Amino acid sequence: MHSLKYKLQEMKFTFKVILVIAFFLFKSNFAKGQNTDQKWWKEAVFYQIYMPSYADSNGDGYGDFKGMTSKLDYLQNLGVKGIWLTTFLTSPKVDNGYDIANYYEVDPTYGNRADFDLFLKEAHKRGIKVIMDMVLNHSSTDCKWFQESRKSKENKYRDYYIWKDKPNNWESFFGGSAWEKDLLTNQYYYHKFDKKMADLNWSSPVLVAEVQKILRFWLDAGIDGFRLDVINFLNTDGITADNPTKDGKQEHINDIDQKGVKKAMRIIKATVNEYENRFIVGEIGSDKIEVLKQYQSEDLLDVVFNFNFGSIRDFSVKRIFDEMQSMEKNMNSYPTLFFGSHDMPRIMNRLADNNPDKAFALAALTLTAKGIPFIYYGEEIGMQNITANTFQEIVDVQGKTHYELALEKGKKATEALLEANEHNRDKSRSPMQWSAEANGGFSAGKTWIKINPDYKKTNVNTLTTQKKSILNQYKKLIALRNNEKVLQYGKYDHLELKDDQILFTRSFDGDKVNVIINFGTKRKLILPANAQILMGSKELESNGFIMYRN
Ligand code: NOJ
Repeated sequence: MHSLKYKLQEMKFTFKVILVIAFFLFKSNFAKGQNTDQKWWKEAVFYQIYMPSYADSNGDGYGDFKGMTSKLDYLQNLGVKGIWLTTFLTSPKVDNGYDIANYYEVDPTYGNRADFDLFLKEAHKRGIKVIMDMVLNHSSTDCKWFQESRKSKENKYRDYYIWKDKPNNWESFFGGSAWEKDLLTNQYYYHKFDKKMADLNWSSPVLVAEVQKILRFWLDAGIDGFRLDVINFLNTDGITADNPTKDGKQEHINDIDQKGVKKAMRIIKATVNEYENRFIVGEIGSDKIEVLKQYQSEDLLDVVFNFNFGSIRDFSVKRIFDEMQSMEKNMNSYPTLFFGSHDMPRIMNRLADNNPDKAFALAALTLTAKGIPFIYYGEEIGMQNITANTFQEIVDVQGKTHYELALEKGKKATEALLEANEHNRDKSRSPMQWSAEANGGFSAGKTWIKINPDYKKTNVNTLTTQKKSILNQYKKLIALRNNEKVLQYGKYDHLELKDDQILFTRSFDGDKVNVIINFGTKRKLILPANAQILMGSKELESNGFIMYRN
């Protein structure tokens, strides 16, 4: 009897201890925002700013932090809750900043550290989080590490890069060999991109520690997360076998998605997790869902860019729908939804046949379907591609490389220009069009790249005054998305393609919305009697969109 009472008391005590532990665990997780599935980045509409092209405050023709700070009210008004800044660290800009020379410094073109701090503070004041591009696959050859590394085989930075006596057959993504001979030590170094962008050696623990230092430096500065550049390209396993060739094209079997990539990602994620509420989106260089999905998990990347969906070359409603279904089936967390970036031609030309209604219908899809939307600057006003008319007009290293390779192959200058323009990424990088004033109100000086002459009618000022403009439609829809939890967290109850319409119903916490995006012909809908239209109309135009509750 006595021992039973004692046992009961002991059980009660154990139970209390469990309760207390559970309470504290719950509290600490709650503080980190991890008690539920709720995270700021699942609620946010992101906006990508291509640094050189957004807003120039000092008339040097390049965008800068001060310019961007002056546009934060615009972004707040648009409803943006997250900004992705393309790389702004010190760089000779062979690849417009994706060739970093100093990971701890703001490039003077964009201002200084105080300008960055002020931008971040002002963004935070407006409820906008900011993530930055982080390029960890390669550095500029101007980087101090590389300059030291090349001096001698014994240099303490030698191991930061990949040196070999003989190159293998691996090709650069910009075209040509991925190897360059350096005469100082008569060895070749490996560069997956331009020869001025040397690949970092992720087999070196010292390099890995340096990367962690860089991440902490910017996290301490208050950055809300990172967009990791070509993160599945990291060279973690050294130089292995030659790549095979199929139909005259090299297959990147051995140089990318190496075995150690996940281990490297785990280190990056653990470092970022030392800080609360931060976010990582990874650029995985692939449009295959099987490749993309393997990197998205709690210990690797929060989300990946879904190029299976975002980078489709030509418009096809069936293809878009199939990719939506495939993301639903394959992704264990949220997919990302976008159709544009600084590496792709603009949506308006690529997918929307220069039709603002169609461009908006595509945007409506990304803002209402299940996933995290990323808007590329200027999409909200329907910005279009620019085209280089001469070789001299090409700024992009990829465009230039293809031009030179075409000439080497014996092509005429006109043919080489055509080929270069196929690969030229300048198309979507022209200055943001703010007004009908000179240079679209982007800069008082000569712009680093040409502006699209359509700025006189396609600009923020003009479109703000037109009630039904694409810009005002964006504002309305983003506001809805920001207000409706069901658009942020809702699961699909239904997802269907019918007569060129994409239809879905999403539900969350007892709430439900229906969306129809019509890429087919005009039609009149018969809605349930209790339907409450949130946006759009029953007269569903071709490229029209409707969202309603019932
Ligand atoms: C992907 C970036 O988006 C692209 O602009 C760049 O050229 C390559 N990575 C190399 O850093």
